Parts: sequence; structure tokens; C-alpha cells
Amino acid sequence: MTEVTPYNNTESKKEQITKMFNNIAESYDFLNHSLSFGLDNLWRKIAIKKLINKPAKILDIATGTGDFAIIAAKYTTAQITGIDISKGMLDVGNKKIYNKKLEDRITLQQADSENLPFKDNSFEAMTAGFGVRNFENLQKGLKEMHRVLSNNGMVAILEPSTPKYFPLKQLYKLYFHYLLPKIGYFISKDKNAYKYLPDSVDAFPSGDKFITELKNAGFKKCKHIPLTLGIVSLYIAIK
Ligand SMILES: C[S@@+](CC[C@H](N)C(=O)[O-])C[C@H]1O[C@@H](n2cnc3c(N)ncnc32)[C@H](O)[C@@H]1O
Repeated sequence: MTEVTPYNNTESKKEQITKMFNNIAESYDFLNHSLSFGLDNLWRKIAIKKLINKPAKILDIATGTGDFAIIAAKYTTAQITGIDISKGMLDVGNKKIYNKKLEDRITLQQADSENLPFKDNSFEAMTAGFGVRNFENLQKGLKEMHRVLSNNGMVAILEPSTPKYFPLKQLYKLYFHYLLPKIGYFISKDKNAYKYLPDSVDAFPSGDKFITELKNAGFKKCKHIPLTLGIVSLYIAIK
């Protein structure tokens, strides 16, 4: 897989990703909701509803500002832990959790998905929203997720993907590659972050290729569910 990084400098992808999300943390939620036309929380809700094993503990990988964790708190009775490498994103997330009085349900902690600070088999379910694409080493991250998931535990992963057919394919390309980076730059003031977004989506092994990555990491019953005409992919798998 070609390595796509935000700033293309000598720092590791992980350092660049951490810096980028710290830079855009304050504008992330606004841009996320507006650039997805408010659909992002619907996609998270659909994903949570697929976790049908009644988890007591959920780990939200690359939780960012905590939206997946917050939706998980709404639609399950689980205790939720969210981890992320960006302190800036977690700070915004902690404010939201405090304002929504969810501190007894959700705990956020700074950690790297590729070296999770949890014992084997610790969580019955796991979510990862728009995060795994940013891993420096995708297999390492997926194997770590598999390790801390309990046997028969379920994982739900969301990632943007590119629609395949005319005319949506062409319209989406126009929006995602030309319009979105300009709006993203104007609001976040980070020139690279919203250029990195479409570039990293293009480079990501989506669909069947990602199913193969999941299987290689040890997951079984891996399913790909395209959402909203294929602009987002939901992957469900079991340990
Ligand atoms: C696009 S945001 C998604 C945030 C959130 N999951 C959501 O649904 O909005 C991607 C997040 O992945 C985090 N991330 C990237 N690589 C990571 C890693 N190796 N370990 C933990 N978090 C990581 C980033 O810091 C960022 O907050």
C-alpha cells in the first residue's frame, strides 16, 4: 500500500497524523457534520445497531472527539472506553462528554491503536469510525484490535469509500477532491488536512481488500456493507 501522509515531511506518519488532528481538533466536529451533510451520526448509529451481542464493554478505537462513543452510550447499555493518539481531539471529546453528563458511561484515554494498553479479550465489542485509514501500520492495528476483543466479540468499522458508478462517481470526485479540500482549508486553516482526506481514501484498501486485511488479522465472518450509495463502507467482523 502506498503511504499517504498529511504533510509529506520526514516525520513518521503517526507523528504527522497526531499533529494534524491536534491542529484541526476545534473545527473537526463542525466540518465533519457539515461536509457529510449531517449523515455521519446516522452512519455511526447504523454501525452500533449491528453490535447485536449485548456488549458490557465497548472500546472505541481512534475515538477522536468521541462521537462514536456518545452514540454507543445512547443505543447500548455498555461501559465505553475511547482511545486516541491526539490529545487535542480528546480534549474536545471530554468537554462534550461532560456537557452531556456521560462521564459515568464513557472514559477517554490517550493511547495508540497499534499498542493498546489493555489485556487480551477485554471488550465484547469494538468500534472504529474513520480511524483505521490513518494507522501507520494497518495490520498491526487490526491485530491489536483482535487481541483485546473477547472471543465471539464484534467489531464495527466505518471508512469513507469511493462510489463506483456514473454519475455519482464523477460528482463525488468533484466534491471530495476539489470542493471539500477548499472548504476544509478555509475553516480549519490547515491546508493539508482536507487534501489528505481524499488522498488517503483513494489509497486505502477498501471493500474486498479490507475484508482480506481483517481476515489476515484473525477476524471471521467479515462483512462489507456499503452505506449511502457507497460513499461510506461499514465492515462488521467477529473474533
Ligand atoms: C477522522 S478522526 C475520527 C474520529 C472519530 N472516530 C469519529 O468518528 O469522528 C480519526 C482519528 O484517528 C486517530 N488516530 C489515528 N491514528 C491513530 C492511532 N494509531 N491510534 C489512536 N488513534 C489514532 C486520530 O488522532 C483521529 O482522532
